[in-house]
Amino acid sequence: MKKDFKILAIESSCDETSSSVVVDGRFCLSNIVSSQIDIHTRFGGVVPEVASRNHITAIDNVVDLALEKAGLKLNNIDAIAVTYGAGLIGSLLVGVSYAKALAYATKKPLIAVNHIYGHIAGNYLSFPELKPPFTCLLVSGGHTAIIDVKDYNHHQLIGTTMDDAVGESFDKVARVMGLGYPGGPKVSKMAENGKENIFFNKPTDMGYNFSFSGKKTAVINYIHKLTQRGESIPVEDICFSFETQVVDELVNKTIKACQDLGYDKIVVAGGVSANKRLRKVLTEKSQENNIECFVPDFEYCTDNAAMIGSAAYYSYLDGIGIADMTLAPKPNLNLQDFLYKNN
Ligand code: KG4
Ligand code: ZN
Repeated sequence: MKKDFKILAIESSCDETSSSVVVDGRFCLSNIVSSQIDIHTRFGGVVPEVASRNHITAIDNVVDLALEKAGLKLNNIDAIAVTYGAGLIGSLLVGVSYAKALAYATKKPLIAVNHIYGHIAGNYLSFPELKPPFTCLLVSGGHTAIIDVKDYNHHQLIGTTMDDAVGESFDKVARVMGLGYPGGPKVSKMAENGKENIFFNKPTDMGYNFSFSGKKTAVINYIHKLTQRGESIPVEDICFSFETQVVDELVNKTIKACQDLGYDKIVVAGGVSANKRLRKVLTEKSQENNIECFVPDFEYCTDNAAMIGSAAYYSYLDGIGIADMTLAPKPNLNLQDFLYKNN
C-alpha cells in the first residue's frame, strides 16, 4: 500500500453527521461533527425520521468542510469509507448513499465499516503507538461488550449485556428524573455532588456478561416509592450511586477478562468512555494490576467519522471490507460481523 494513504470517511449512523480525512489510519487531518442533539433534546431522545432528514441537510457541507480543513480536494483522496451498520436505517441510508455516489463518481474504492469496529479504532488515533492484542471494553448507547482484540481485523466477543446497553441505561435513568437527553453526561454531572447511600441490587454472577436493566428498574422503583410517600427525590445521590455501581461492574469484569486473556493492555471505546468516573476508576484499577489502560480523547469517544477512517484503513490493508454499489445499510449489524464481506 502506498504511504500517506488518505481516506475520506463518513459516519451517519445515529444523530451525528460526520466526515473526516485520516492518513494511514493514524493521523486525523480533519474531523467535522454536526450534532443534532439540540434538535432531539426537545423530544427527549432521537427521533429516527427527524435524524435522517437532518443528515440529508447537513452531509454536503460536512464533507466539504472535512476536505477544506484537511487542505485537500477530492482528487487527493485515495478511498471513501462509510459506516454501514449498526444504526438507524434512515440515518445509515443517507451516509451509505452519499459515499456510494462519491466513490462511483470519482472511481475510488469504497470501504464499508462496522460502527463498533470504528469505536475501537478511535484509540489508534489517540494513541499512534497502540497495537493489538488488547482487551477492549466497548460501552456505547447501543452496545456493551468485552472484546478480545487479537489483531486489527481479528476480534472475539468475550462478554456482552443480557439486556440494556450501559449508555441506554444512563439515558433511561436520566429520563425518569427529567434530566434530559443524552442522559449519560447529565447523570454524570449530577453525580459530582452526590454520595453513595443507595445500594441497588447486584446482578447474579454472569461471568463476563453484564446486566443493567435491574439497576435501572431499581432506580425507577425507588423514585416511585419516594414520590408516593410525597418525599423529595435525592437526584444527586441517586446519580452517584447508580454511576458508581455501574462503573464498578464494568471495571471489575474488564480487569478480570484482561488477566484471564493474559494481556497487559485495556482499551476503552464508545460514547460512555467519555464518563469521567469510568476513565478514572479503570485507569487506577489497571495500574494496581500492572495493566496499561488506554482511554480515547473525548473527540473520539462519541460518534465521529475519524474513527471510521482509521478502521477502514486497517481492513483495506488486509484486502477486506471493500464494497461495491450493492452496499446496503445493515441496521442490526451484529457485533461479531466486524468485517464487511461482499457476498
Ligand atoms: O457511542 P455513542 O456516541 O453512540 C452509540 O454508538 O450508541 O454513545 C452514546 C451514549 C449515550 O447513551 C450517552 O448517554 C452516553 O453514550 N454517554 C455517556 C457520557 N457521554 C455520553 N454516558 C455516561 N457518561 C458520559 N459522560
Ligand atoms: Zn457510536
